[in-house]
Amino acid sequence: MNKQVHDMFPEANHDEQSQQAFLRSFMMHIYERVMPGNDILYKQKVIPEFEKKLGRPPQTRKEVREALGEQPFNQMWGSLMRTSQEMMYHTVRPSIERQMPNLKAKAAKLDNAPGSLKLDPRLEIPKYHTNADIHCKPGGYHTKTDDTDFLAGAEFDRTVNVYFHGKTGPLADDMGLSLASWIKENHPDFDPKSVLDMGCTIGHSSIPYLDVFPGAEVHAIDVAAPCLEYGHYRAKSLGKAVHFSQQNAEKTNYPDGSFDLIVSHILMHETSHKALKNIIEECHRLLKPGGLMIHMDVVGADDPFGQYLCEWNAHYNNEPYMGGLQDEDLGGLYKDAGFPVENFFMKQIESIHLPKTMPEVMKAKRAEGVVIGIGYYTIVGTQKT
Ligand SMILES: C[S@@+](CC[C@H](N)C(=O)[O-])C[C@H]1O[C@@H](n2cnc3c(N)ncnc32)[C@H](O)[C@@H]1O
Repeated sequence: MNKQVHDMFPEANHDEQSQQAFLRSFMMHIYERVMPGNDILYKQKVIPEFEKKLGRPPQTRKEVREALGEQPFNQMWGSLMRTSQEMMYHTVRPSIERQMPNLKAKAAKLDNAPGSLKLDPRLEIPKYHTNADIHCKPGGYHTKTDDTDFLAGAEFDRTVNVYFHGKTGPLADDMGLSLASWIKENHPDFDPKSVLDMGCTIGHSSIPYLDVFPGAEVHAIDVAAPCLEYGHYRAKSLGKAVHFSQQNAEKTNYPDGSFDLIVSHILMHETSHKALKNIIEECHRLLKPGGLMIHMDVVGADDPFGQYLCEWNAHYNNEPYMGGLQDEDLGGLYKDAGFPVENFFMKQIESIHLPKTMPEVMKAKRAEGVVIGIGYYTIVGTQKT
């Protein structure tokens, strides 16, 4: 876990490693051993009691939340989830703070490496980011304490490693690599020369597009300056030419028809309904004819229990739009933005790095069709004509 995967990767000393290792095991334990108890409780107790009262099983995620939320086991699991999320920042942040002078010194030495960074200090941070510290990250993605501070980005790199238990690859690039590889395999004649990654954070998912599509120019945007800055230095330290720019994906400054491929990785659930509509319209404007737009996110559960598990984050993990995203008519939004109905697709693709054994363990314990996100990603895409 402390292996130096790139020069900008924040280190962890002995005690920090120990704390972070504990946290990873703690989170894994909650996820693998405690969380499936909700399924058992739901099937064996909550559904029968609900049916006794109303003559039918719960039909909406709200009904599942209300009925399951009364159960002490569910409350305990929720407390553990929330506590572990807060512990992640309590554990990682002091470690990054102590390293900031060193990280800044390293960044200053990377001046001649490839790629670019354009920041826009006048950019208004959307309310859907300032209203809550998204998934409990103090100050969210965008907060800086001084002009040269890229702590939020450095912290993100380390917390991704902790949160995903280091299983998303040494460069935490699994989402980008899995999607880029899927596109290459499933659209063998598609050879994008210009790629845009929206909501890139530190560009860890953007970089694989350079490797999978050699010769492509990769642009990556986000509203969060400290993440972009860190991402820029991180990409430089890896010798990767990513063009980072601080922009709102709802309305960018790129000319019409700038890109062959537009992607995002877990951006959608962090935007409001209105922003999502704007982003899809903006993608349509930015794509060349024949261009592909694909967004990867936690969507597609069509049963109330699966939807509840996503929505839980809206209520207890500062992910305000995660519930609403489950209700979006994405096909309708794509159509309204001008994409042909027949080109719309939503599917699960395999992760390159994540082990496929975890879903097997969970599958055994869960209701059918509820396994979300582990070892597989849902993508929602289309092609402009
Ligand atoms: C969950 S993170 C995405 C992580 C990253 N794409 C990955 O592959 O792990 C969501 C990111 O989207 C950014 N974001 C949210 N709304 C945005 C918008 N309207 N325009 C640009 N970036 C946005 C946030 O600042 C945050 O960095």
